[in-house]
Amino acid sequence: MTQEKTPDLTVKIGPLVLKNPVIAASGTFGYGLELSDFVPPESLGAVIVKGLSLEPWPGNPLPRLVESSGGLINAIGLENMGVEEFIKNHLDKIKATGATVGANIIGRTVEEYAQVAKCLAKTPIDFLELNVSCPNLSTPGGLSFGSDPEICFKLTSMAVSAASGLPVFVKLPPLVTDITILAKKVEEAGATAISLINTIPAMSVDIINKRPTLAHVTGGLSGPPIKPIALRLVMLCAQAVNIPILGLGGVFTYQDALEFILVGASAVQMGTAVLIDPLSPLKVIEGLSNYLKSQKISSISLLKGQIQTA
Ligand SMILES: Cc1cc2nc3c(=O)[nH]c(=O)nc-3n(C[C@H](O)[C@H](O)[C@H](O)COP(=O)(O)O)c2cc1C
Repeated sequence: MTQEKTPDLTVKIGPLVLKNPVIAASGTFGYGLELSDFVPPESLGAVIVKGLSLEPWPGNPLPRLVESSGGLINAIGLENMGVEEFIKNHLDKIKATGATVGANIIGRTVEEYAQVAKCLAKTPIDFLELNVSCPNLSTPGGLSFGSDPEICFKLTSMAVSAASGLPVFVKLPPLVTDITILAKKVEEAGATAISLINTIPAMSVDIINKRPTLAHVTGGLSGPPIKPIALRLVMLCAQAVNIPILGLGGVFTYQDALEFILVGASAVQMGTAVLIDPLSPLKVIEGLSNYLKSQKISSISLLKGQIQTA
């Protein structure tokens, strides 16, 4: 009897070899271990921890999460414990599981991003992801950096040099006139990969109180409603740059993941899905493997960018 060969799910992102293309997105997987009873972090391609700043940030006032139009609007405001506390008390524990771990970085100034990158450069972290696209900050930073190609270039170059060789992903915003300008800028600045997309600026209204539902008034929409927008942006970027793209925005099923891979993503990230079903990343990995088997495709990377648009 011939043994059916297990399909190869590994993907290459710059110098990193991930065991599969399913990554926990920053913001819904805590600092890596909170969901380990459901999802062993080492079973995923990688885990990206909650955005880290130089000092701890308190985040925005409550309420800061609301379901809307089949998705979720959040205005967490990047509450986090700060990079030093993460390095001191969390990083070794998550690395001890054998997981590939990325640190998402946020700052109020371009220099702050570089300082956080420098703090992480001499640790066992596997890669950095610069969040230049958070829509939930009242102070400078986040989205205002990611929408400006020159600031994005400077920020990426400084972080790449502060990271001393660590791979650096840059997470771009969805609401810009031409995403390929930003993508080319961060590639030129030395980014290893591009993560696309962050949440889309949005709001929800409480009709009883005649007030915005979120205390911050606006937030960022994630989940299924943003998938079609993300797919288009990933396709445009994949055609414009040579560095790998990590596609995200509404990945809930293996079929969603395949759509992103076919338009050119090397791997996908899952955010909102994990809040709804913590097991969903494992189901996506299994679904991809079964799909490849049924289609007799030996490796997931053979599907990358295989969409026929003409
Ligand atoms: C509650 C919540 C917190 C988030 N926090 C971060 C964060 O700290 N850094 C970041 O880059 N993205 C953050 N995001 C954005 C997600 O990583 C992701 O880009 C976005 O939600 C779209 O993917 P999804 O539809 O799979 O959730 C957050 C999203 C949610 C829902």
